[in-house]
Amino acid sequence: MARREPEVARIVSTTHDGRGIADVAGKKVFVAGALEGEEVRFLRRKIRRKFDEAELLEVLQSSRSRIEPRCEAFGRCGGCSLQHISQQEQRELKQRSLRDNLQRIAGAEPENWLPPIYATGKEGGWHYRRRARLAVKDVYAKGRVLVGFHERHAPFVTDMHRCEVLADPVGNLIDPLIELIERLSIRSRLPQIEVGIGDNAVELIFRVLDPPNDDDRAAMIGFARQYDVRVSLQTGGLDSVTALYPDPVPEALSYDLPDFDVRIEFESTDFVQINGPVNRLLVTATIELLQVETHHRVLDLFCGIGNFTLPLARRAGEVLGIEGEQRLVERARANAVLNDIGNVAFLKADLFEIDGNESWLRAGCDRLLLDPARSGSLELIKHIDVLGPERIVYVSCHAGTLARDAAELSGQGNYRMTAAGIIDMFPHTAHVESIAVFEKVAKNK
Ligand SMILES: C[S@@+](CC[C@H](N)C(=O)[O-])C[C@H]1O[C@@H](n2cnc3c(N)ncnc32)[C@H](O)[C@@H]1O
Repeated sequence: MARREPEVARIVSTTHDGRGIADVAGKKVFVAGALEGEEVRFLRRKIRRKFDEAELLEVLQSSRSRIEPRCEAFGRCGGCSLQHISQQEQRELKQRSLRDNLQRIAGAEPENWLPPIYATGKEGGWHYRRRARLAVKDVYAKGRVLVGFHERHAPFVTDMHRCEVLADPVGNLIDPLIELIERLSIRSRLPQIEVGIGDNAVELIFRVLDPPNDDDRAAMIGFARQYDVRVSLQTGGLDSVTALYPDPVPEALSYDLPDFDVRIEFESTDFVQINGPVNRLLVTATIELLQVETHHRVLDLFCGIGNFTLPLARRAGEVLGIEGEQRLVERARANAVLNDIGNVAFLKADLFEIDGNESWLRAGCDRLLLDPARSGSLELIKHIDVLGPERIVYVSCHAGTLARDAAELSGQGNYRMTAAGIIDMFPHTAHVESIAVFEKVAKNK
């Protein structure tokens, strides 16, 4: 029978994702938000065979690393998990996670550690998220609408009033959104809001299960005008998104990469790197690490809407971007035209299905950029000798699959991992973004 009374224990270590581990009668209990050395009161939330998960109720004896979280919903909201430690310590935790993954899975350490990439300045790690999906719930029992991220320990929407990581102005629009939705006839038929924040404009897409009536539309338009945001409605799949205000929209959402004189247009439902300032640093660092020269042929795999491809094309002879989603390929092509970049091509292909006979693979390349989704890029790496790049930069959102792929690359004996480091793309969350450089091993003739 699960114990559900509060308990007290000392935390013996901390996991990579910011959970404290207590040993209670020989069973591990993971206490979210507790730090090594602390004595805490906690409540077990999930009982498992080998370990339990618990909610932190009170810190009885606090670690010197603990700081005051900025957000009043921290601990309840599932959006952030590390606000109780400094950003410097968060980065150290992330670097340790990368190092441990590389050692455990690849049995390797990079020859050099790169300095972490992160946004500096007092507000550097705050108000950075330019894409988000906010959940909305009309809570009948409370007579209130909630807007926010899901709770950390339960599938409910967090009762919150603002958000410290959503980019401006949306971080301050949680309460105004609640007030708006509470006035709508469809307040219980509006389950989520997609947020897209460009350098030039902000879009909120209201997912609606029933059509809004005239008063609802007028209220939404009033909100859009008052807060200087765009409002769109989504009645079904992605292609059902239609502009409500302004209609028509004057221009697409966009962000700039000034180091390369590139502007990237996107839609709120596209993949974009979450953190604009860090993305700028990342693109510049990646292209430096690739050591691109003007005669090089470069391949950018998992290229999305051209975030790296177009800056690369400013430095290289020719660049081919490959991406699995047709609508992103089309957007990437349109972005090439927008920037008047001609030495680039985009191809739609499933990079998990590679047999080694693809013409783009057989054509080879001098430099390779990989930026896969969490599942990594093993299928491509199995054919790396056909492609034969001198240098590979691998940007990863999952340290485990990066380590697995690094093991495959160096296991073949043809590549050395010369450098690796972390990118703090998602401050205050446990999400680890990393970058690794591989160089072809010179063979004796
Ligand atoms: C981490 S995102 C990187 C996008 C881009 N490099 C950027 O910086 O914006 C990974 C991309 O891989 C694409 N992708 C996922 N699975 C794929 C597959 N099997 N084949 C090709 N592309 C895929 C996704 O659509 C997404 O655009």
